[in-house]
Amino acid sequence: MSTEQPPRRIRIWDLPVRLTHWALVLCVLALYATGEYGWLSMDWHFRFGYAALALILFRLIWGVVGSEHARFSDFVRGPRAILHYLESWGRADYRPALGHNPLGALAVLAMLLLMLAQAVSGLFSNDEIQWYGPLSERISISASADWTDWHHLGQKLLLLMIVLHLVAISVYRLVKHEDLVQPMLTGNKQRSDGHDARWRSPWLALALFALCAAAVWAITIWGPPPL
Ligand code: HEM
Ligand code: HEM
Repeated sequence: MSTEQPPRRIRIWDLPVRLTHWALVLCVLALYATGEYGWLSMDWHFRFGYAALALILFRLIWGVVGSEHARFSDFVRGPRAILHYLESWGRADYRPALGHNPLGALAVLAMLLLMLAQAVSGLFSNDEIQWYGPLSERISISASADWTDWHHLGQKLLLLMIVLHLVAISVYRLVKHEDLVQPMLTGNKQRSDGHDARWRSPWLALALFALCAAAVWAITIWGPPPL
């Protein structure tokens, strides 16, 4: 006799994680459109860049104090857990992860850190003509040129990670018949195992995001040297 419970809806991703994800997707698209393809103007590149920086800072803090599956401690695992997960992939006892799986966690970390590096390098970058990141004139011309090179390299690495991210999501859909996108939209998964995630207050998330936005705003106000 099977002891398997019928699938039920369980909570996985809280609202702050979902809103941050989709807002970051929009910002990153807009950053490529404005930085690389001349959409709108570089004014908007800077604005979307500041928004992205505030979102990333918030997500990193939420990864420490946020809801259960938002926390790095919930999904960042060592090499053994990653190998174990990879070995279980083709087996009948394969269990999809509740939150991020140990391999996907690497991609999540890589994307968050790359986006952070990209936004921070932007602050120190310049295009040698008209557009100067708010901290670019606080350092030497050659240092700012180096940061700009990093900004150019970072955008390529980030693009590569985004392509891998979308390929991985498609592989889970096609091979494992696991829809990861729906939970990132609704917050829920249909599961016969596991439990509802422990939730942190969205008001705490809002207060933390306001702090991150204020920190970024302070950089834009006090960053550029006085005229
Ligand atoms: C995740 C955040 C960001 C992404 C994905 C991003 C992406 C890009 C891209 C694709 C370009 C065109 C680079 C090229 O032509 O190869 C660019 C250029 C630039 N970005 Fe960003 N950017 C981000 C954040 C920022 C921020 C926060 C600032 C400053 C406030 C900034 C300032 C600049 C500047 C000054 C350039 C012109 C560099 C040049 O023409 O050589 N970026 N960025
Ligand atoms: C600019 C493009 C994108 C970036 C930078 C990005 C970045 C990220 C990041 C950082 C996470 C971790 C979420 C967290 O724990 O906070 C994530 C997860 C996720 N993203 Fe994206 N994403 C992008 C585009 C997309 C798109 C277009 C889709 C939908 C087709 C998508 C679907 C997902 C899903 C389903 C997850 C959860 C994966 C899992 O269950 O482990 N992403 N993404």
